[in-house]
Amino acid sequence: MIHFKIVPVVLFVFFLHDVRAQQETTAEMKKVRLTFNVDREGIPVYSLSYAGKAVIKPSRMGFRLDKDSSFYRGFQLLGVDKTTADHTWQPVWGEVGEIRDHYTQLTAHLQQRGDARRRMDIVFRVFEDGLGFRYEFPLESRLGYFVVADELTQFTLAGDHKAFWIPGDYDSNEYPYTTSVVSEIDNAALVEKSTDIAVRVAPDRYAVQTPLMMKSADGLYINIHEAALANYPAMQLHVDRALLTLTSALVPDAVGTKAYLHAPYATPWRTVIVSDKAADILASKLILNLNEPSKIGDSSWIHPMKFVGVWWEMQTGKATWSYSDYADSVDAKGGLIPSGKHGANTANVKRYIDFAAANGIGGVLVEGWNVGWEDWFGNWKEEVFDFVTPYPDFNVAELEAYAASKGVKIIMHNETSGSATNYDRRMDTAFRFMRAHGYTSVKTGYVGKIIPRGEHHDGQWMVNHYNRVSEKAAYYHVMVDAHEPMRPTGMQRTYPNWLASEAGRGNEYNAFSNGNEPEHETILPFTRLIGGPMDYTPGIFKLKGYSTVPGRQMHTTLAKQLALYVTLYSPLQMAADLPENYAAHMDAFQFIRDVPVDWDDTRILEAEPGDYISIARKEKGKGSWFVGAITDEHARTAALSLDFLSDGKKYTATIYKDAPDADWKEKPEAYVIEKVTVDRKTKLAVKLAAGGGAAISIMEKK
Ligand code: NOJ
Ligand code: CA
Repeated sequence: MIHFKIVPVVLFVFFLHDVRAQQETTAEMKKVRLTFNVDREGIPVYSLSYAGKAVIKPSRMGFRLDKDSSFYRGFQLLGVDKTTADHTWQPVWGEVGEIRDHYTQLTAHLQQRGDARRRMDIVFRVFEDGLGFRYEFPLESRLGYFVVADELTQFTLAGDHKAFWIPGDYDSNEYPYTTSVVSEIDNAALVEKSTDIAVRVAPDRYAVQTPLMMKSADGLYINIHEAALANYPAMQLHVDRALLTLTSALVPDAVGTKAYLHAPYATPWRTVIVSDKAADILASKLILNLNEPSKIGDSSWIHPMKFVGVWWEMQTGKATWSYSDYADSVDAKGGLIPSGKHGANTANVKRYIDFAAANGIGGVLVEGWNVGWEDWFGNWKEEVFDFVTPYPDFNVAELEAYAASKGVKIIMHNETSGSATNYDRRMDTAFRFMRAHGYTSVKTGYVGKIIPRGEHHDGQWMVNHYNRVSEKAAYYHVMVDAHEPMRPTGMQRTYPNWLASEAGRGNEYNAFSNGNEPEHETILPFTRLIGGPMDYTPGIFKLKGYSTVPGRQMHTTLAKQLALYVTLYSPLQMAADLPENYAAHMDAFQFIRDVPVDWDDTRILEAEPGDYISIARKEKGKGSWFVGAITDEHARTAALSLDFLSDGKKYTATIYKDAPDADWKEKPEAYVIEKVTVDRKTKLAVKLAAGGGAAISIMEKK
């Protein structure tokens, strides 16, 4: 009798679980449809489609934890909540003045069977242009303090897409992009030969960095990245080349684990942006929408700006960061022996301040102003810079007064050489120094192997460090431009004082290495810039002959350098070349004077990753528009319809374009400037040279 009673109950429980396993739940927004279920093994599974086409095929989710190496199976679905939201918000600065945040949210409440009965929620947000999802560990998760050994999130692709990728390196995003099908991804040869990158740690030859841009054979554009990366390592993707499955691969810490967490905690959002139009990927605000609103109450001190700098002359070898050629030899009085090549000397800085003031440029970056550069790199030493002691030929007080008299801000430079512990200890002192001497922004840098030794640029410890720096900078009302941090994930919404990051292969590679192929800047907006602005440092006018290395040259025309101010969005744009090189082309420099760094509106006119991009943007608070059009190594005609202009108004368009015989390799400095009257019915056909571009300012006629 007793046996009879027990058996049916057990069967019933199994049966119940099995029924649940079949239960599918969906959420949609226009063409985007998410499906979620828990499979027969209790593994959470999601899939995504766009207009009925598969984008992500059924893919598993979950973790390996220290407490539970199978925190991905044995789950049961306790219930599902669904909500929708639709509101607009105004970023402090950006590509547009107003952003709509419109989504359907589905929260799956899960509980693991077994004694621990641990819980986890998965929150999905479905937008018109894609999906964001994250794992939440509520207080009731029964996890307490826990360690993530691996995140197992999968993205199973529906085809062997064309992909634009860089290696999944724990310490660098500065690789050139490779275009290949997913099944041919293999980073080993590229990592091996990239000796121009300071630190390379890419142990998995089948791992790639995000944002990963892909295009399917049937015309879908798919971008995978993450949003709101905080207190967690960056997500890279391990590629299963046979199954076409991408699996989250978190950057490890010094002891080989991934993240130390304490519930309640929510992971960063995993994002999939999708459309049948490439332009929609560039216009997407999905990642910004998944970030928290600004934590800075009064943001009136945050100002996008253009800047010049004592910088390119060091990059190209004309001057040095260091004051002396010797770290260990001193003169009779114990002082450094000057080499005579030090760039950041008072007179030279004044020259840049004068140039900035004469041309309406707000800032002057000065690198190499502080002691420590004689042996700053390659020794993995902890005490490198103190961030407050100038070299003897850099007069802090005199330059402070001079810059103020000219209405120009000097931009502080804090290179850490990767010694984050040193910066952590000295940061308050450094920010107080900035406050005391009129510096309102800082460019940070992390060239070299990280200290704490064993940590990586993109691991949890450093993610927390970079975020801590921007929080602390906000406290001191300082704006940040971070070089060598993890790539951005939209956190600039939360900390709008973090204006820009490098975190990618900038224009500088054309100075100290073989540089960037002409297609590079047509890929960046689809990859690196998906998470946020890049300090690419455009505006090089002397395109050949700037380096003593034979054959070294820029891989663009001069007109393309101008176009980059529009196509590579950043609230912080450098005019990177030397004043004397601008002096030779002041008619073209007029575009850099005019182009703003903050916008009310943005229209993507034409776009194809790896081939071309044309973008129009409307100046913040003004009626003027600016257009940038670029191409790869192939000449093309940009077809620009100006229908974004206001009805009934006439405008003067100044077109800065490649001369008919221009070519990035042979004749990069050949350009023509043309003025025409345009209105909203105008369609311009502008010829772009191989490796070329065009920049257009469109001002209302008075
Ligand atoms: C690398 C940065 O990208 C570059 O801009 C800077 O000049 C050097 N580090 C030195 O800090
Ligand atoms: Ca191409």
